[in-house]
Amino acid sequence: MKRTIVKMPGDGIGKVVLEETIRVLDAAGFEADYVEGDIGWEFWRKEGNPLPERTIELIKKHKIGLFGAITSKPKEEAAKELAPELQGKGYIYSSPIVGLRQIFDLDISIRPCHTYEGNPLNFIRRGTNGEIEEPKVDVVIFRQNTEGLYSGVEWSNPPEEVHKAFMSHPKFAKKFGIVPKEELAISSRIFTKKATERILRAAFEHAKEYGYKSVTVCEKPNVIRETSGMMYQMAKEIKAKDYPEIELWNTNIDAQMMWLTKNPENYGVIVAGNLFGDIVSDGFAGLVGGLGFAASANIGDDVAIFEPTHGSAPKYAEFDPPIVNPIAMIEAACMMLDHIGENKKAEKIRKAIADVIKEGKVRTYDLLKMKGAQDVIKKGAATTTQMADAIIQKLK
Ligand code: NAI
Ligand code: MG
Repeated sequence: MKRTIVKMPGDGIGKVVLEETIRVLDAAGFEADYVEGDIGWEFWRKEGNPLPERTIELIKKHKIGLFGAITSKPKEEAAKELAPELQGKGYIYSSPIVGLRQIFDLDISIRPCHTYEGNPLNFIRRGTNGEIEEPKVDVVIFRQNTEGLYSGVEWSNPPEEVHKAFMSHPKFAKKFGIVPKEELAISSRIFTKKATERILRAAFEHAKEYGYKSVTVCEKPNVIRETSGMMYQMAKEIKAKDYPEIELWNTNIDAQMMWLTKNPENYGVIVAGNLFGDIVSDGFAGLVGGLGFAASANIGDDVAIFEPTHGSAPKYAEFDPPIVNPIAMIEAACMMLDHIGENKKAEKIRKAIADVIKEGKVRTYDLLKMKGAQDVIKKGAATTTQMADAIIQKLK
């Protein structure tokens, strides 16, 4: 049976990298029908909604989405860019990708960071005798995607009943009790047992399936006792009960950010809440090539959406030919293939990417460490299309 995939190019370079990725999927023999889901800035401006209901319906129906990137702007700026007939009608901008995660409860975010041999952007360090070492990174970050500090439960000048509730906590009363309400900004960090268990189990299951020896909980349980502490405690219980063969490690986010440049090869699966997962995944992505290589999956019970980590890079959106690296988006498509049981095709594509990188003949501007500009092509950088072509060539 042929799959139907909802492709959501979005804005800017999202459109470019998604089209190239579909060519690669075709070349790998993945047969699917693609339907296009409207999302992003154009629809905000024209309709006052960057995530139209019809797109939500498409995803509900087909369950699998490939998403490029969108442009987001602060509320006030966004309001100014609305079509004249929509101005002043109370439309409020909110990010459609955050919206998708919430609507479909895509609570598990997976962000793999692995070294491609020969990638000139790979992290290197000095060894004990001053020699250059290039550790092989193979880390998969599991980030809780819907709760924690990003759940939007926050106030400036909190309402009376909220303030009263906070005052019932002795630490709040002692430290902030005399601060006028208008001078308070509060963002809350809420973890539920259900979502925490889901992200932990997904992490352990991945470690088991793909042969990683350890799962690291990367939080701050000694200080943030209730949320981080709960996650670590639950991890211990889950490990003891169901994954005795997998080692459970515990790192603090701050120390982890320091250690990841010291011994990144030591880590396997890492699991964290929303904010710390966001931070640690960007940290590891920087060791393996940065935004041109960083892919992610957003997975719920029913729906899954795959995307590169990067945004719409408006600076490069109009470049003709386009210069950006399509590999992050292609990697996201590989994660989609894994998710729907097409692992062989995913492996084939990853092998093709590895061959192109190792050979080093075709390199987009980021791989050449150039500053992004239209003239990088004249200076020898590959276009986005040439990079995709090189990968397709290796698939043959
Ligand atoms: P960005 O990720 O779009 O670009 C930052 C810089 O990274 C670019 O200027 C470019 O130098 C480099 N870069 C990004 N993707 C690349 C690629 N594939 N190949 C080579 N180089 C690449 O982030 P920025 O500039 O902070 O945000 C631009 C817009 O994108 C904003 O409106 C922001 O809100 C939105 N955004 C959307 C995201 C999404 O759709 N998931 C995620 C991040 C930002
Ligand atoms: Mg981020």
